[in-house]
Amino acid sequence: MFRKTVLSACLATLTLAGGAFAAGEGGHVTDYDFSFEGPFGSYDQAQLQRGLQVYTQVCSGCHGLEYVPLRSLGYEGGVGLSDEEVRAYAEQNFEVYDEEADEYRPATPTDHFPAVTSVGAPDLSLMAKARAGFHGPYGTGLNQFFKGMGGAEYIASLLTGYTGEQMEQAGTILYENEAFPGGYISMAPPLYGEDVEYAEGQPTPTLEQEAKDVAAFLMWTAEPKMMARKQAGFVGVVFLSLLAVLLYLTNKRIWAPIKKRKTS
Ligand code: HEC
Repeated sequence: MFRKTVLSACLATLTLAGGAFAAGEGGHVTDYDFSFEGPFGSYDQAQLQRGLQVYTQVCSGCHGLEYVPLRSLGYEGGVGLSDEEVRAYAEQNFEVYDEEADEYRPATPTDHFPAVTSVGAPDLSLMAKARAGFHGPYGTGLNQFFKGMGGAEYIASLLTGYTGEQMEQAGTILYENEAFPGGYISMAPPLYGEDVEYAEGQPTPTLEQEAKDVAAFLMWTAEPKMMARKQAGFVGVVFLSLLAVLLYLTNKRIWAPIKKRKTS
């Protein structure tokens, strides 16, 4: 009887805590599938290239990527552009201020993406890691364990989460957004679908497609070495498992004579 009461009390607390949080300030985040999820997931190169295109044509007007070196667009396991493509991309899209020459010049692969501060929009370099999409009941971390932190899911949900409603507050227009904590964001809906023309053979860009692509790209800017990290983790687990077996056998071996003495 006592055990039953304690158990149901515990359960009630757990559900209450979970419920309270779900109803709290966090917005609604859709659990989109991404190719880089799971222990063996990896970036989809074509998707990162589409995401780069969305970023360049739409987001880069307001958001910088100041921690991302342009040359990293050529790294393997990521966007994977060739050296020439990186050089052409940098040159065509960005200008940087050259302090020595005291003038603006086209960007080169040795520069970073420029910072953009004009409209007060946050830098997006690390945004996919700075935001979390999934919050579990306090302390258990189960949601994060099964679904990941959900930074990319949050960004995709944010871009698709506009309801169309807006209101004015202290001279600023705020747009209602289901994913944004608090429900109103000062960023006007940046994507509507079909605003970026993808290369032939790529999916027609619906709003959701564009949102997922740019979210995947921003996951890559935040963690360009994710594949290397996963691989190192996997090698580590294999190595430690082998070591554990060896240690177990060694231990058996060392104590065998003594155990034998005891029983005889
Ligand atoms: C017209 C300018 C403008 C454009 C274009 C724009 N943004 Fe924003 N963005 C903003 C501003 C301003 C904020 C700050 C909003 C706030 O905190 O209320 C913001 C905030 C954000 C945030 C952070 C939300 C948070 O949780 O704090 C993300 C993520 C974001 N934008 C992604 C994007 C992406 C991806 C694109 C391109 C598809 C984009 N933005 C295009 C102006 C813009």
